[in-house]
Amino acid sequence: MEIFKDINSLKEWRKLQSKKIGLIPTMGALHKGHLSLIRKSKQLCNQTIVSIFVNPIQFNKKKDFNSYPKSIENDINTLISEKVDALFLPTHNSMYPSKYSTFVKEEKVSLGLEGESRPGHFKGVTTIVTKLFNIINPTDAFFGEKDAQQLRVIQRMVIDLNFDINIIPCPIIREKSGLAMSSRNRNLNHADFNNASIIYKGLKLAETALNSGEKSVLNLKKFIKAKINTVKNADVIYVSIANSETLVELNKINSNQILISVAVQFGEVRLIDNITYSFS
Ligand code: PAJ
Repeated sequence: MEIFKDINSLKEWRKLQSKKIGLIPTMGALHKGHLSLIRKSKQLCNQTIVSIFVNPIQFNKKKDFNSYPKSIENDINTLISEKVDALFLPTHNSMYPSKYSTFVKEEKVSLGLEGESRPGHFKGVTTIVTKLFNIINPTDAFFGEKDAQQLRVIQRMVIDLNFDINIIPCPIIREKSGLAMSSRNRNLNHADFNNASIIYKGLKLAETALNSGEKSVLNLKKFIKAKINTVKNADVIYVSIANSETLVELNKINSNQILISVAVQFGEVRLIDNITYSFS
């Protein structure tokens, strides 16, 4: 596997690749969720490149950035055993040199949910993803449904800014308990790791209620919150029921496909998860 820390040498390598090249942007501390994106790229593309960069400008709290899990040596070994072709591992200064002052901002899909709860987060995401797209120039890029809003913001950005890149959505990979895999799970203590499966159970409870004909958004939100609050240490930040495509919050269930998503604080660790529900 080629490892590029330097933008110019990566660009030189890129010039030599002619066919489909798949990019998986990550912040490292790799887990099976990331691996599912990598494997999809290996199926669909001739070359697969992973980027690892803990992007400071998408963290709205310094403490959150500082405590973000890091395991670069393990990550490199994992990528080698997955037969990834190249790793882009840029330094902070190469991505954001001292005079850096240009940002990319989506202004609709990014407003609610995570955008509202973490001001500035998506501006950081769209900026770094644009930079990665420009540096690597992939034909395809892989994003997880785990970050449903991020996926939709990137899909919008690619259309709006005329990127010639296929965005490939990938399903959420979960622990046996139902807990969505996440790098942040590494920061959970043993008890919270076990308790955090309550998040998915809350989402599934809403699904069951919808199956039995529940139509009230308020009730659905109440059910989810009450379920999650049954475990110690869980603090629900928000529950959202939104049009799955536009992410506009619903007062009434009047859309064929809805996204039910939550953010929950477990001590110092902030977790997100979602399910989609289709009526047709
Ligand atoms: P990170 O959290 O490392 O996630 C990288 C990619 O893996 C994202 O597309 C995310 O949705 C996907 N992913 C994470 N957990 C998953 C799971 N359990 N199942 C399926 N896919 C999963 O998302 C980011 O990094 C950053 O915001 C980034 C896009 C790299 C920009 O900095």
